[in-house]
Amino acid sequence: MPAPQVESVLGPAKRELFKAMRAYNKAAVGKSDYRALAVTIRDKGKIVGGLVGETYWGWMYVNALWVAAEHRGKGYGRSLLRTAEAEARKRGVRNVFLDSFSFQAPKFYAKLGYREYGRLKEFPKGHSRHSLTKVL
Ligand SMILES: CC(C)(COP(=O)(O)OP(=O)(O)OC[C@H]1O[C@@H](n2cnc3c(N)ncnc32)[C@H](O)[C@@H]1OP(=O)(O)O)[C@@H](O)C(=O)NCCC(=O)NCCS
Repeated sequence: MPAPQVESVLGPAKRELFKAMRAYNKAAVGKSDYRALAVTIRDKGKIVGGLVGETYWGWMYVNALWVAAEHRGKGYGRSLLRTAEAEARKRGVRNVFLDSFSFQAPKFYAKLGYREYGRLKEFPKGHSRHSLTKVL
C-alpha cells in the first residue's frame, strides 16, 4: 500500500474525493436532488439576517442562521427559519436537521419545534454541540 500523505493544497484533492464520494452515493441510493438554499432579510440592500442551507434526499440541513445584533429579538430569526422550512416543503422536503452550539441557540430551535437527537460535550471546552431535528 502506498503511504498516505497530508496534502499541502486542499482544493484539488477535496474536489476529486467529493466527486468520487458523490458517484458512490448515487450508485447506492440514486439522485440526491441536491439544491442550495439561502434566505435573507435586507435593509437598504444590506443583509441584516440570513439563513444558508441545503436540501437533498428529502432533508434540509441548516448550515447557518444569523441576525444582526441590533435586530435580534424582533422575530427575524423565526421568520427566516419559517421561510426556509416553507421553501423546503415546496421542494418536497419533510425533515430538517442542524447543529447549534450551547453558546448559540439550541433553545431558540426548541421553541420552533426542534428536538435534540444528540449532544457532544466539551465541544468546544466548556460548551456543547447540540444536534436538532424537526419533521415538517
Ligand atoms: C439565534 C438568532 C438567529 C435568533 O434570531 P432572533 O431574530 O433574535 O430570534 P427571534 O426574535 O425570532 O426569536 C424567536 C423566539 O426565540 C427566542 N430566542 C431567540 N434567540 C434565542 C437564543 N439564542 N436562545 C434562546 N431563545 C432565543 C426569542 O426570545 C423568541 O421567543 P418568544 O417567541 O418566546 O418571544 C440570533 O439571536 C442570532 O443571530 N444569534 C447569533 C448567531 C447564532 O447563534 N446563530 C444560530 C446558529 S445555530
